[in-house]
Amino acid sequence: MDEEYDYLYKIVLIGDSGVGKSNLLLRFTRNEFNMDSKATIGVEFSQKTIKIGGKTIRIQIWDTAGQDRFRAITSTYYRGAVGALLVYDICNHSSFDHLDRWVRELMDHVDPTNIIVMLIGNKCDLEDKRSVKPDDALAYSQRNNMAFMETSALDSTNVDQAFEKIVKLIY
Ligand code: GTP
Ligand code: MG
Repeated sequence: MDEEYDYLYKIVLIGDSGVGKSNLLLRFTRNEFNMDSKATIGVEFSQKTIKIGGKTIRIQIWDTAGQDRFRAITSTYYRGAVGALLVYDICNHSSFDHLDRWVRELMDHVDPTNIIVMLIGNKCDLEDKRSVKPDDALAYSQRNNMAFMETSALDSTNVDQAFEKIVKLIY
């Protein structure tokens, strides 16, 4: 049965292939994790309803391929989005170096004055393989006016918290 809701927010996941976008979505919406998940082809989406401040908010989360060759028409993907989780992998410095590219594409397709972007350093369970310092990511997020959190889709660290945070910032 379709639940009632007060607000519907579209949030998009962006970032390089392999950073864990699909697993963040899977963890948040179904509390599952897939160790050998395949690269996303095209666009997928899931939704979840949460309560904040007495209001019921349906979050519709769109997930697309990080790989260029699998990416669907970007304007459809971004249309109507009010939030974006900009994801890199804390063990993969090039995924951090590519953030500007993702931000540029996002801003080309949404109203830059009406979008909340949150920076997500995923795979924080892999501390021994870390290559992006939290301080560098924090500095990047501050320069670009973004909230920032490190998450792990594998062990669930900060996954619910990240979605709740961006919804509160949109709300
Ligand atoms: P594309 O769909 O190609 O853009 O990739 P994606 O960003 O959706 O990455 P995906 O969720 O498919 O994850 C890529 C790989 O990283 C998979 O093997 C996942 O199991 C693994 N992975 C995702 N999140 C985490 C995490 O938090 N910790 C660890 N250790 N591995 C993760
Ligand atoms: Mg994916």
